[in-house]
Amino acid sequence: MTTTAHPRRTVLITGATRGIGRALAEQLAADGDIVLLSSRDGAAVAAAADEIAGNVRPAGPDPVQIHPIQLDATDPVSVCDAAARIGRDHGHLDVLVNNVGGMFDGPSRASTVQLDTVRATFELNLFSAWRVTQAMLPLLRRGHEARIVNVSSETGSLTRMTAEQPAYGMSKAALNALTRSLAGELAAEGITVHAASPGFTATEAVAEGGRPVPDGAASIKAVIDLPAGSGTGGFFQDGAALPW
Ligand SMILES: NC(=O)c1ccc[n+]([C@@H]2O[C@H](COP(=O)([O-])OP(=O)(O)OC[C@H]3O[C@@H](n4cnc5c(N)ncnc54)[C@H](OP(=O)(O)O)[C@@H]3O)[C@@H](O)[C@H]2O)c1
Repeated sequence: MTTTAHPRRTVLITGATRGIGRALAEQLAADGDIVLLSSRDGAAVAAAADEIAGNVRPAGPDPVQIHPIQLDATDPVSVCDAAARIGRDHGHLDVLVNNVGGMFDGPSRASTVQLDTVRATFELNLFSAWRVTQAMLPLLRRGHEARIVNVSSETGSLTRMTAEQPAYGMSKAALNALTRSLAGELAAEGITVHAASPGFTATEAVAEGGRPVPDGAASIKAVIDLPAGSGTGGFFQDGAALPW
């Protein structure tokens, strides 16, 4: 997988006050992109945007541009309001990163897991990305070489699936299926759609272990930076294709 230099892009990241989303925001802002940083908590997202703007040194001549957006990906009204605000203030989007996600089923097994837990996991990991994508598509259609990157997981690979974390793994497999379906639909419009795994990463969502957060974020950024015309509907980690 090769990446390329690119013009300044307007990028919306969901779930970016901490963890992989925040580290990705820092990397894109340093690269010169206009970053729309979002999460449920308006105060937290404003504070995170201020901190990033104060800390990041731009690699090029453009000043850092990072804008806080209050957006609860599970709430249709919040998502529509955010799309309207982005349309008014920025006019378009070049990149949507559906990063919001989480795991609630810990050591459960498919034979016994509470189905309410499964539903909540699908709501956050699948339907949030689907909802945000539908709301942002009119803005992406006005973008340049627009792309959608769904933050998935190795555990969503059907080929590699085990008995571990069934709700999480199946929700990410469904997110991968959404990726393929959208990629097929939107190819004719020149909008690319990929799934990207950060690998096991030491965020607050992880009890122990994992690699440095900037490394997980870089795995997502590599997919955002794929050159135009290099295909759509892929599933990547650290620049290499993962099996579906
Ligand atoms: N960490 C790993 O090892 C790992 C491995 C594979 C895949 N992933 C995937 O990578 C993504 C990021 O994971 P992470 O470990 O960085 O998570 P994290 O540290 O828990 O961060 C989650 C972010 O999402 C925001 N958020 C949560 N619910 C939201 C909602 N309904 N609407 C909007 N924002 C919301 C949180 O902020 P607020 O609480 O302020 O809203 C926070 O900024 C997830 O999709 C995860 O499944 C992670």
